Amino acid sequence: MTKRLGIIGAGKVGTTLGRLALAAGWEVRIAASGRQPLQDLIVETMLPGARLLPEAAVVADSDVIVLAVPLSKVRELDLDALSDKVVVDAMNHWYPVDGNLDGLTEGGSSSDWVAALNPRMRLVKSLNHLGYHDMETDARPVGHAERRGVAVASDDPGANDIVAGLLNDLGFDPVELPAAVGVHLQGDGPVFGRWVDAPGLRSAIASATER
Ligand SMILES: NC(=O)c1ccc[n+]([C@@H]2O[C@H](COP(=O)([O-])OP(=O)(O)OC[C@H]3O[C@@H](n4cnc5c(N)ncnc54)[C@H](OP(=O)(O)O)[C@@H]3O)[C@@H](O)[C@H]2O)c1
Repeated sequence: MTKRLGIIGAGKVGTTLGRLALAAGWEVRIAASGRQPLQDLIVETMLPGARLLPEAAVVADSDVIVLAVPLSKVRELDLDALSDKVVVDAMNHWYPVDGNLDGLTEGGSSSDWVAALNPRMRLVKSLNHLGYHDMETDARPVGHAERRGVAVASDDPGANDIVAGLLNDLGFDPVELPAAVGVHLQGDGPVFGRWVDAPGLRSAIASATER
């Protein structure tokens, strides 16, 4: 597989992931909202080496696409164009930013809500449970004794494998899990914002699932 990462959302998460991916040898394309002035300068400064492109070009030319916009903005995106694409849902529902969202129930997985917007996306929940600053400081090379575990949750084994490969390159130990555990990766769950290695993540999620 070629290593072409598409990122939608040139904010804290998008630019941080982009830097890690570029360092790992991936080509990075990023789409911004178009609302901010000087977006090209921001990307040039925060993410040198990435290409700032329109959303449609990012989607068309990438092997994996990360959604890194506020959850409430996801409906602005052309989700139909993401059909059959491997899409990483790195988003969380933050009430102060997103407010109430029709159809998103408290205690439900926000990725189920995103998946329902276009069930043809090969949607994988990942990277939402660590802060953007931790993404950069906790990334470690393959074989390092202190690699952070990061979940890769979907019921599409092929998509999970592709996202696991990306995470491994970014500097994390991927832990492949079913979509049903998605809710335990969110704000009230046991691994949200908490450093765990891969076995620690697996056992924390197993305990949460048994409860
Ligand atoms: N911050 C964290 O530590 C963290 C960690 C894990 C997951 N997350 C989740 O990741 C997502 C992004 O968080 P963030 O902290 O990176 O937020 P952020 O810094 O506010 O960045 C979000 C970016 O998305 C852009 N955007 C909005 N609508 C867009 C559209 N239609 N097309 C393209 N870009 C669009 C925004 O542009 P405008 O400002 O122009 O609207 C902004 O640049 C959120 O869902 C968040 O919950 C955050």
